[in-house]
Amino acid sequence: MSTLRVENLTKTYGDVTALRDVSFEIEDEFVVLLGQSGAGKSTMLRCINGLTEPTSGEIYLDGEPLSGSRPTVGMIFQQHNLVEGVSAYLNALTGALDRATLIESLFQWNDRADKLRALEALETVGLLDEAHQRVSRMSGGQQQRVGIARALVQDPDLLLADEPVASLDPASAETVMRYLKKAATVHEATALVSLHQVNVAAHFGERFVGLRDGRLAFDIGRDELTQERVDDLYGDVETVALAERHAVDGSPAVEDRRVRP
Ligand SMILES: Nc1ncnc2c1ncn2[C@@H]1O[C@H](COP(=O)(O)OP(=O)(O)O)[C@@H](O)[C@H]1O
Ligand SMILES: [Mg+2]
Repeated sequence: MSTLRVENLTKTYGDVTALRDVSFEIEDEFVVLLGQSGAGKSTMLRCINGLTEPTSGEIYLDGEPLSGSRPTVGMIFQQHNLVEGVSAYLNALTGALDRATLIESLFQWNDRADKLRALEALETVGLLDEAHQRVSRMSGGQQQRVGIARALVQDPDLLLADEPVASLDPASAETVMRYLKKAATVHEATALVSLHQVNVAAHFGERFVGLRDGRLAFDIGRDELTQERVDDLYGDVETVALAERHAVDGSPAVEDRRVRP
C-alpha cells in the first residue's frame, strides 16, 4: 500500500512545456491517466519512474522523495521491450535483474526466490502453463501479460503503465487490463496507468487524473467521470484519440463516447 504524491511538477524540453505545475495525490488505487496525445502522460510516468528528470517540483512515495534509485517502481511499456527469442519465464526473471548491479544480478539469476517469484508472477497473469513458451510465438496480449509479470517480479509498491493496451484489439485490451488490475490487487500496489481508450478507462479505473496541455485538468473519482468531462478533455468526437481507435479496429467512433460504469 503506497501513497504517490506529485507536487508542482513541471517539465520543459527547450521551448516545449510538457508538464506545468501538476499536483495530485493517489493512494492504494487503480488510477487511470487520461489525456490527448501530447498532453504529457508519458512525461509524467517517465518523471515518476526516473527515466526523466523533472525541471521543477517533487515526487514522493510514502512521504519519501523519489530521487536516485527506485527499487519499488515497476513499469510496463506500450512496446513491451521483451527478449523475443527466449521464454516467458526468462523474460519474467529479467525483472529481477533491474534491482541490482550486474555482478549481483548474475548471482540473483540463480536465486531460487527470484525463480519462484517469476513463476508466481506468470501465474498471476494467467500464463503459468505458457512459462516455457518463446515470447515470439505469443500473441500481443500474451506478450503484454509477460511484460506485467516482469514488472511484478520486482514486487513493486507502485505499478506504472504507459498505454499498455494501445496496440491491442479491444478483446485483448480488456484481458490485459483485467490481469493488470489483478496484479495491482495481488501485490497491493498503487497503479497509475495511461490510457487513451475512454471506455477501457471507465471500466477499470477507480480514480482518474486528466491532463490537458501539460496541466492538471481533473483528479476525480469514478462517479465524477462524466461525459462532459471526457468531452472537455478530448474535444469533440473527432479527436485524435477516438479517431485513432476507430482507425485501428473499425469500432464506431460514437460508441467510444459512452462512458460506462
Ligand atoms: N524528449 C522530448 N523532447 C522534446 N519534446 C518532448 C519530449 N518528450 C515529449 N515531448 C513533448 O512534450 C509534450 C508531451 O508529450 P508526452 O508526454 O509524450 O505526451 P503523451 O504521452 O500524453 O502523448 C509533447 O508536446 C511532446 O512533443
Ligand atoms: Mg505517451
